Amino acid sequence: MTAQTIHQGQWSVIRQILSQTVFQFVGVGVLAILTCAGVSAETRSAPATAKGIFAARGASESRFFQRLQQQRTRAEAYMLNNVSRPECLPGCVVASPSKSNPNYFFHWTRDSALTMLTVLDLFDRSTDPREQTQYLQILKDYVLFSRKTQVTPGPVGGPGEVRFNVDGTADYSSWARPQNDGPALRTIALAKLAKILVGRGESDFVRIHMYAPQMPAYTVMKTDLEYISHRWQEPSYDAWEELHGQHFFHRLMQRRALLDGAQIAELMEDLGAAGFYRFQAAAIEPEINQHYNENKGYIVATLFPSGGIQYKSLHLDSVVILGALAADRGDGFYSMTDARLQATALELIKVFRAMYPINQNSEGIAIGRYPEDRYDGIHSDGFGNPWFLITQGFSEYFYRMAKKYQTDGRIEINLVNLKFFEWLGLTQASPRTIEETSPEFAEMLQKIVAKGDAFMAKTLRHMNQTDGSMSEQFSRETGVMQGANDLTWSYASFLGAYLHRPE
Ligand code: NOJ
Ligand code: NOJ
Repeated sequence: MTAQTIHQGQWSVIRQILSQTVFQFVGVGVLAILTCAGVSAETRSAPATAKGIFAARGASESRFFQRLQQQRTRAEAYMLNNVSRPECLPGCVVASPSKSNPNYFFHWTRDSALTMLTVLDLFDRSTDPREQTQYLQILKDYVLFSRKTQVTPGPVGGPGEVRFNVDGTADYSSWARPQNDGPALRTIALAKLAKILVGRGESDFVRIHMYAPQMPAYTVMKTDLEYISHRWQEPSYDAWEELHGQHFFHRLMQRRALLDGAQIAELMEDLGAAGFYRFQAAAIEPEINQHYNENKGYIVATLFPSGGIQYKSLHLDSVVILGALAADRGDGFYSMTDARLQATALELIKVFRAMYPINQNSEGIAIGRYPEDRYDGIHSDGFGNPWFLITQGFSEYFYRMAKKYQTDGRIEINLVNLKFFEWLGLTQASPRTIEETSPEFAEMLQKIVAKGDAFMAKTLRHMNQTDGSMSEQFSRETGVMQGANDLTWSYASFLGAYLHRPE
């Protein structure tokens, strides 16, 4: 099948989904209003055993769940609508269809990799072989388009280049370059894809287009891995494209990319390189740990700022939580139950709860990038706002935290995360271990999931109430959407949270 026929197939699926959901929405609208008040913790307060922890959910839960399910379908359709659009090359992911105020009609290395991570999650959960083939085609197109952008000449050129026109040529506008999280995120997504393809007997595609051991590198993964392993010490611009320095987010991503990449190097019999990538990954770890500041009580997003905006002083930034979500490889390094992350999340929640009027008297807290933020979605001389992708990222973080505790079978409370547990409503707060046999265990896990739901309820309330579309931000004062419309990453992050919600 040619890319074009798949492409048309993809479009007809999207159209079908959209027409169905607009139709369905009329009935759900009434429920939406009822549910807007948020899902309260009381629906979960029934005691439960460790196994059935998340089963005891009441009537308001089922209404909330209906809304989530409806939005899941729409979010997927909207997200895929921005992938391989007719006016773009196959595999290109526009950050948003918006071409002015702001112009986001570009393929960003970061946004597209995060989108593909969500496509991989969808693939994992799909049981329909036809659908799986469609997801794989999107991913393969992304591989080929990525390689095209990687060799295209540009202001910095190569893996650190930030964003591309939809025909794969470089963007020459004045921008914050390089941004070294991009190639790391792409490697994480592609390593996952490579394993899937090898498992399906498609090693040839991997060897030809993704990872060939030969140097100089001529495949996308090998090129990224060489770049990351030789340059992770160098400062670059942060994920918000504003500040030059050493970033927790980038380093966490680089570590995972090198470890995941080493596995693919081994599969492709590039053993020397695999050893080198692992060695570099280990060297990054102590640098990552430098970011936790005991006196401040949170993980400092950027160390050694060396250019860009001057008004960021706390370096308390939601990007830390988003980083942990994408960089968690299940090996315990900055896992979802890491006390330093919990302390950081709590500081962010407190700061945004106090700062944004729409968070007053609301159970769900809308979260923005960082307290000093001035980017209003178009200009950088205004006030920052809450973002869909961040609020939903917090939701995913709480969902995955609950699941990790469930797997671990115990909750460790120490001096670093004590305040976090107090905020969750732990009675008798003191450093100790809560074992799964204690009734408190299930209760805490239910509280964590209820927090996750409250973040989701907040974004459901501020998205377009007729069609479920989501832009980048919503006003801190009025809750009305602003910034780039139909931001691909907003939908990808909704799905990320939805797909990780404990059942
Ligand atoms: C656009 C970037 O994408 C955004 O993150 C940033 O805040 C503004 N430019 C200002 O630099
Ligand atoms: C601005 C965000 O700060 C940045 O992270 C993103 O890559 C671009 N918008 C495009 O969505």
